[in-house]
Order: sequence, then C-alpha cells, then structure tokens
Amino acid sequence: MEDILITEKIGLTESSKKAGKKLLAQVWRYKKTLIGGMVCSVFMTLMFNASALIVKNFIDDALGAKNIEKLVFYSWLMVAIFAVRWVFAYFATYLTTLGGLKVVEELRNKCYTSLQGMSFGFFENRRVGELVSRISNDTGVVQMFVTSGVSEAFRIPIAIISGLGIAIYMSPKLTLYAFIVLPAIAGVVAIAGKMMKNASIILQEQIASLNVILTEILSSMHIVKSFSMEEYEIERFAKENNLTVETTLTQVKIRALYSPMVELLGACGLAFILWVGGKDIINGAINPISGKPLTTGALLGIFIVLQQIFTQVNRINHVNLSLQHAFAAAERTFEIIDMKPDIREKHNAVVIPEIMGNIEFKNVFFSYNPDEVVLHDINVKVEPGMVVALVGSSGSGKSTFAKLLPRFYDVDSGSVTIEGVDIRDAKIASYRPQMGMVPQDTILFCATIKENIAYGRIGASDEEIYEAAKAAYAHDFIMEMPEGYDTMVGERGVTVSGGQRQRIAIARAILKDPRILILDEATSNVDNISEKYIQKALEKLMESRTTFVIAHRLTTIRDADIILVMENGRIVERGRHDELYEYNGAYRRLYDLTLQNGDD
Ligand SMILES: Nc1ncnc2c1ncn2[C@@H]1O[C@H](COP(=O)(O)OP(=O)(O)OP(=O)(O)O)[C@@H](O)[C@H]1O
Ligand SMILES: [Mg+2]
Repeated sequence: MEDILITEKIGLTESSKKAGKKLLAQVWRYKKTLIGGMVCSVFMTLMFNASALIVKNFIDDALGAKNIEKLVFYSWLMVAIFAVRWVFAYFATYLTTLGGLKVVEELRNKCYTSLQGMSFGFFENRRVGELVSRISNDTGVVQMFVTSGVSEAFRIPIAIISGLGIAIYMSPKLTLYAFIVLPAIAGVVAIAGKMMKNASIILQEQIASLNVILTEILSSMHIVKSFSMEEYEIERFAKENNLTVETTLTQVKIRALYSPMVELLGACGLAFILWVGGKDIINGAINPISGKPLTTGALLGIFIVLQQIFTQVNRINHVNLSLQHAFAAAERTFEIIDMKPDIREKHNAVVIPEIMGNIEFKNVFFSYNPDEVVLHDINVKVEPGMVVALVGSSGSGKSTFAKLLPRFYDVDSGSVTIEGVDIRDAKIASYRPQMGMVPQDTILFCATIKENIAYGRIGASDEEIYEAAKAAYAHDFIMEMPEGYDTMVGERGVTVSGGQRQRIAIARAILKDPRILILDEATSNVDNISEKYIQKALEKLMESRTTFVIAHRLTTIRDADIILVMENGRIVERGRHDELYEYNGAYRRLYDLTLQNGDD
C-alpha cells in the first residue's frame, strides 16, 4: 500500500508536474465554460486599457480644444465602456468560478469513490483527519487555481501586451523608459515570490496539522474525558494554534514588506516617466510615430496604462504561486484517486448465489505486517446452521479470523472458501451482503434510531424496522426515548448506552437477515438486565443461519456446535464444551480463569 502521508515539496517536482498535467486534462473537460470566462476577462482588461485612450482624448481633444460637446461625449463614452466592462466582469467571474467548481466537484467525487473502494485494512491504518484534509483542503486549493490562476495566466500576458501597444502608440520613448524600470520590479517580484512561497508552504503544513489535531481529538473526546486530559489537550491545541498564528505572521511580514516595495518601485518608475514626459511636453518633443508633440493627455494615458502593467507584473507572482500550490495539491488528490484497491476482484469473478453455510478455512496463514504472522495454519470446516465459537486470550487472533470471512483482508496463503468457491474468485457484492456483523463496539451514525437500524437494509419498511427492534429487545427502550424511533443519535451515538447500542446493532443485523452472522461479543460491562436481553436477542439472531461468534459468555459457548480455542494465532483445541472441559487443557485453563465470569 502506498504511503499517502507525503508533505509538500518546495517548488515543482517531477511528480507534481505530472499531476499538474493530469489536472489540466481534467480542466480541459470544462473548456467551453473556462474559455468563455477567459475571453470575458480579456475583454474586461481591454476595456480598461481603452479607458486610457479616452482619457487621452478627453484631455487633448475636449479640454485642450475647450469643446463642450466632446467633453460630454467622452464622459458618456467612459461610462459606456465601464458599463460594458461590468457585463464582461460578471461573466468572467461567473464562468471561471463555475469551471473551477465543476472541476473540483468531479475531483471530490472521484476521491470519495476511490476511498469507498479501499479495503477495511486501508482505513485501519490511516488517519481520518489526513484524508479529510485531502478531500476538502487540497481540492479547495485546486479550485482557487482553476477559478483565478488559469484565467489570469491567460489574461495577464494579453493585458501587458495590449497595454504596451497603447503605451507605444502614445509615446514610444516613454515606453522605452518604462522598460528600464520594469526589470527592477520584476526582480523584486521574483524574490518576493520565492519567499512568499516558502512561507505559505510552511503555513499550509501548519494548518493541516492543526486540522488533524481537531478531527482526531474531537472524534475521541470520550477518551480525553475519561482520562481527564482536557487541560493537556487545551494546551496542545493552543500551542499548535499559536504556531499557526506565528507562521501566518511570518507570511504577512513578507507580504507587508514586499508588496509596498513593488509599489514604491512602480511609483518611482511612474514618477520618472512623468518627469521625462513632462519635460518633453514643455520642450515640445516630437512623437516619431505620430509626428506630433507629446500631449498632456498622452502623458496621463500612458501613466494609467503603465500603472496597470506594473500591477499585472505583480500578479504574475500570484499566478505562479497558485499554480505550484495547485499542482502539489493535485498530486495529493490524484494519489487518492489513483489508489489501487488492495483487495481486488477478478474480472471473471463468480457469483455465489445463496450461501447455505458451507465454509472452509484451509491452511490459512495471515499477517498484517510481513514480519509478524498473526494466523498460523488455520483449518476449519463449517456446515450450514452451525454455531462456531472462537475463544482465546486477547491478541490470539479471533477478530482477525473473523475479518477474513468477508474478505476484509486477503490470506497470505491457503484459502477461505464459501460453498466451495475461494472468496478471492468470487464477486464480493455477491457474498458480502449475505454476511452480517455485530462488532464488539458499535458506532452509530449521526442519524435517527430508525435510520441507524435501516442501515441493515436500505428501503426496509417501518413495520420491518419495528419487528427487528422488537426481536433485538430494543423496542422498549427506543419507545422511551424522547422521539422514539425518530430520536437523533448524537455523533458516534454517545447518548445511547453501550448495551443499547449493541441491541441496535443486533436489530440492524436481524433486519439484514444475513446467511452468515459474525458476532464479536462485547466484554464491556453492560448491566445484568441489559446483558440478559442481549443474550436473548443474540439467540434469536443465531437461529437459522451459520454463526461465528467471538464469545466471552458461557451461555453462548455452551451451546456452540464447535469451539475453537485460539492461542497465538493457532487453533490449539477444538470440540464441544463438555469434551474440552474434560480434556483439561487450554480451554479448561481459559474457562477457569475468565469465561465463567461471563456466566449469568
Ligand atoms: N490492523 C492491524 N494491523 C496490525 N496488526 C494488527 C491489526 N489488528 C490486529 N493486529 C494484531 O494481530 C494480533 C491478533 O489481533 P486480534 O485483534 O485478532 O486479536 P483478538 O483475539 O481479537 O483479541 P481481543 O480479544 O483483544 O479482541 C494482535 O497481535 C494484534 O496486535
Ligand atoms: Mg478482537
């Protein structure tokens, strides 16, 4: 499995360039919208530059000639130009934003689809905060780039070239002078760009780590509370938060230092132009293109145009930065999109129609990490309707055994077969829905009780949901809740007790009516009455299906058709309760030590 915890590298790397190309291919799919937006933004810029020409004519033709008619005309023309510019501005913003949103919508859906395809094991080893940040923040950065970066990359050169055209038309000499200042500005812009980029990468990393703390701690508040670690967490957050502020300040300092510096340089350049131009006007120097002397209007016009050009040069930085961020973010986003599921289905996978309950583990070896074998040579044959109990000390591999059945993981060697079909050769969607799991620790969704039960079978009728809840001995306590079945369960179901949560999980499983039931019995301390109800509910659930139960309660174990005693990933004993008890081996030791405590 690839490690997706890479940090952003400074500058464009080979891999981020590759991701950038892929991103641009994605962007290209919305070309009509985006090109529409870009064309509008180009017109917007051209309108602005045209206004410099109007100012020139206003001053030279109207003011200079004291022509009131022309004065009114140019005033209205100015208004008209800006009105038209307004229309273009609207479509430019709307279309480029629309394009950006569409690209990001698609990327987010692809990320999510890819994640849904990943195995159980993938999520056991990942930080959720990190994944959330990828889907929300990184795609956000990409959106910014598509919305503003892409169109600016297109618009800025046009703005500069058209501006220069007008400047040259007004005064080639002054434009030439402007070119003397321009490199100095570009130099400062480049230096500032580099510094800003480094600062902003550090800032992004800082924000990401703040987010990871937030998601992780807030989703494990019960642990924080139970260890009274609030103060510790407050301090930890405050430290991280403060670091974020400091990092932001560094970035602001750089921006505060360089931005006005670029403006100052620009102003020096403009002052220089005004000085040279003013002298030319006083001396009546001739414009070689028009053959006429430089006019006050032309000087003012060139002033406006140059100012616009300097601003655009300054924007190049922004575009460059946005592109690098977006490419790096795209790299992380595509990493998720392109992940190959570690549990893959063969294309000629067979369908297992209805599971009768013939299941076999044959010489199964399994390890989570290559250096530690967790299951050794497991051989079990199960017939329809059997109840198989797994017992053993903590860490002996019981849950791992159970996770191999739905193919949450693949075995290293050996095979798991259902109805004689190796599950690696079968369509997952044909057998997994026929399995029901009641985990040791049920997490309820942030939804109503009804919706939580209905997750067992989307589309179940209310009647069926009530029936399932009744069978799980959950109906009574649900009816006592403020809004009955419509009561919202808080995040992670904290307002429902452990025993109640488990009965909801059982109701879910009853509603699903699976052919194979996998039960991780809770060892958690539920009260005696709750326990009895859970026991009864479980018995009902185990009827008429094949059941694997990781058992801690004697009642479950005593009635099991076969008990597998596990030790360090091996099945060391197997048989029925009485036989094993008599045998006086590992089971007897385990029974005497722990199991009988679970008896009621
Ligand atoms: N996702 C995982 N990644 C790596 N190792 C794991 C993972 N899950 C379990 N293990 C390891 O595999 C071994 C068996 O764990 P397993 O959860 O199957 O034990 P168990 O018998 O269910 O224990 P318990 O009774 O405490 O639930 C343990 O050594 C455990 O540390
Ligand atoms: Mg376990």
